[in-house]
Amino acid sequence: MKNAIISARGVCKSFAHNGGQVHILTGLDLDIYEGDFTVIMGASGSGKSTMLYALSGMDRATGGQVLFQGEDIVKMREKKLAALRRSKFGFIFQQMHLVSNLSLFENITVPGYLNQTRSAADTDQRAEQLMAQMGIAKIKTHLPAQCSGGEQQRCAIARAVINSPDMLFADEPTGALNRKNTTEVLDLLTELNRAGQSILMVTHDARAACRASRLIYIEDGKVVGELELPSYTEAEEKSRETQISAWLAAMEW
Ligand SMILES: Nc1ncnc2c1ncn2[C@@H]1O[C@H](COP(=O)(O)OP(=O)(O)O)[C@@H](O)[C@H]1O
Ligand SMILES: [Mg+2]
Repeated sequence: MKNAIISARGVCKSFAHNGGQVHILTGLDLDIYEGDFTVIMGASGSGKSTMLYALSGMDRATGGQVLFQGEDIVKMREKKLAALRRSKFGFIFQQMHLVSNLSLFENITVPGYLNQTRSAADTDQRAEQLMAQMGIAKIKTHLPAQCSGGEQQRCAIARAVINSPDMLFADEPTGALNRKNTTEVLDLLTELNRAGQSILMVTHDARAACRASRLIYIEDGKVVGELELPSYTEAEEKSRETQISAWLAAMEW
């Protein structure tokens, strides 16, 4: 039996727009399991980002419950929610959002210092390890602008996991990368997941979807399809791609 780490029940999200309301999520029920590499797919505008932000408390749902480790983050006070996001969640985006005047090393360590669950020396040591794992140890003093997109995204991944989050959220993390950098980033995410990291990733890239242990397809903010997969192995990539392509075709992707 897998443990649900996040449980969404009747989750709604509406935005004020042009004097009216647009309803993007209208009663989402979804469990995300510990240890899974869950991937959410769906057409552009189907509500993938909105769902990710609601499930991670980045942007509060307007109704329903989002239980994380048994606590409802929809009703949580802002200060507590901010602390939870900082200590228990990691985030990666299509745009890396690195701080432009900080070195790669500083970009990674600052959230560690802010969190204060480790000593500064331990944070530095973990940052060094992560930079080695991400292949960016040699450029630790570079500013983001002096790095390629792939290097910046690998730095952003290290930053996202510096506090050993319970859940790593990723919104189109390969959306701005070329093929080679995409593979590198996906390999790193796969490696983190193999080491036990729970991941929830939104993508519209079928190659990225290949890394999932569970695929979820959404349409108009609702789950319309689901596919369970064995853990990713490179040797099975081709047959996996075929299986996922067929599934996506059935979803009218
Ligand atoms: N702040 C907002 N105000 C109004 N509409 C929004 C807002 N954010 C997203 N939307 C709308 O919600 C829908 C889903 O958006 P989004 O979750 O970004 O989709 P996806 O990530 O699947 O492309 C889109 O139609 C978008 O225009
Ligand atoms: Mg999006």
